[in-house]
Amino acid sequence: MNWVQRSDIPRSGGDKGRVIYTDGDSRNAQRARGYFDRAGVASRIQVHVGDALEFLSEQTQEFDVIFNDVDKEDYPRVLRLVSKRLRKGGLFITDNVLWSGRVTEKTPKEASTKAIVEFNRLLSASPDFYSTILPIRDGIAVALKK
Ligand SMILES: C[S@@+](CC[C@H](N)C(=O)[O-])C[C@H]1O[C@@H](n2cnc3c(N)ncnc32)[C@H](O)[C@@H]1O
Repeated sequence: MNWVQRSDIPRSGGDKGRVIYTDGDSRNAQRARGYFDRAGVASRIQVHVGDALEFLSEQTQEFDVIFNDVDKEDYPRVLRLVSKRLRKGGLFITDNVLWSGRVTEKTPKEASTKAIVEFNRLLSASPDFYSTILPIRDGIAVALKK
């Protein structure tokens, strides 16, 4: 999960933009560091290895953009945390919200599918966000904090 503070993304944020990238898997975090280096933006990105939900719940500052791509079962919990930590006008972006179309199943059986369906329902009903789903690749939810 990426938490972006003070600006939007590493390049457009300029020198003052700051990105916090969290990954529970140290090997994936290491690979990500390699990509950040190759893209020339490593100095703007703080890599944190650990649980993103725990990390976010410990934060006190507000973020401009929060990108969510954690294990899908945690999506509803992420939504509750994000509301408090995103500034007004900030963006909350979430990957995989169509889950290869499984979100349209009448009675989803997988825990991951059930959690994404619940997340989509909570997000669209939330009084805190204007939201939409872009049908790009596996579905991206984009929500603007009111
Ligand atoms: C596997 S990728 C998701 C793939 C991508 N959304 C796609 O469609 O191909 C998700 C990454 O988030 C990390 N991750 C999952 N849950 C996490 C959590 N609660 N905290 C931190 N990192 C997490 C995983 O270790 C993994 O590196």
